[in-house]
Amino acid sequence: MKTPERVIAIDGPSASGKSTVARRVASALGLRYVDSGALYRGVTWLALREGVPPEDAAALERLLERADVRFGVADGAVRFTLNGTDPGLALRGADVNANVSEVAAAPAVRHRVVAWLREMRALGGLVMEGRDIGTRVFPDTPYKFYLDASPEERARRRHAEDAGRGSAASLGTVQASLQHRDRIDTSRRADPLKVAPGATVIDSTGMEIDDVVAVVCRAVGGIAPSAKEGRGP
Ligand code: CDP
Repeated sequence: MKTPERVIAIDGPSASGKSTVARRVASALGLRYVDSGALYRGVTWLALREGVPPEDAAALERLLERADVRFGVADGAVRFTLNGTDPGLALRGADVNANVSEVAAAPAVRHRVVAWLREMRALGGLVMEGRDIGTRVFPDTPYKFYLDASPEERARRRHAEDAGRGSAASLGTVQASLQHRDRIDTSRRADPLKVAPGATVIDSTGMEIDDVVAVVCRAVGGIAPSAKEGRGP
């Protein structure tokens, strides 16, 4: 089922299952998947690489004025390069994790990234995951979801995911890092993480991922994929 004009917004805290669900919903409905957090991570990666302190809002703004960002689509997902480089797995590194929420709280950074995200409409229908997609980036979309899970479950998921990428960080370290980001993301002045008016809230703590994907697909009027078909790129 192809409905290129739609934007499906999936917000929620870290490791609530947004990426997996958003990718699979995009694949099932023939839409582009967008990981908005990757752009905030990208700006953080660039700032660290260029020696810009994450708390220096004016220097971050200057960094973004000079930044050359390019978008493209690969395997159904919107990808980007920053100053000619795809940062790849560096976006998930401990230094980016430790600093991204502070960088993302800077109004100038949010302003620029929100503009980039809105430009992606030109690429077709989107499933975009993040913290403020339903509240700020696309407040007019009727398709809004807020995905949550208990802090313990989220820490377990992220720990397993990181370990799969070769990280040796302990469960406690991962949980502390998520708590640190949750605190900043929900309390910042500019577009804090919160449930958008009209959003469907899904607590995925005890749910299989297939069931969460099915809830979203049904709510937007699509056919829920079978477990096998739904597994996207
Ligand atoms: O993958 P994970 O859920 O841990 O985080 P992410 O989606 O990659 O986002 C990394 C950080 O970017 C978040 O902790 C927020 O500080 C920020 N972010 C944001 O402010 N607004 C968004 N729409 C997406 C991410």
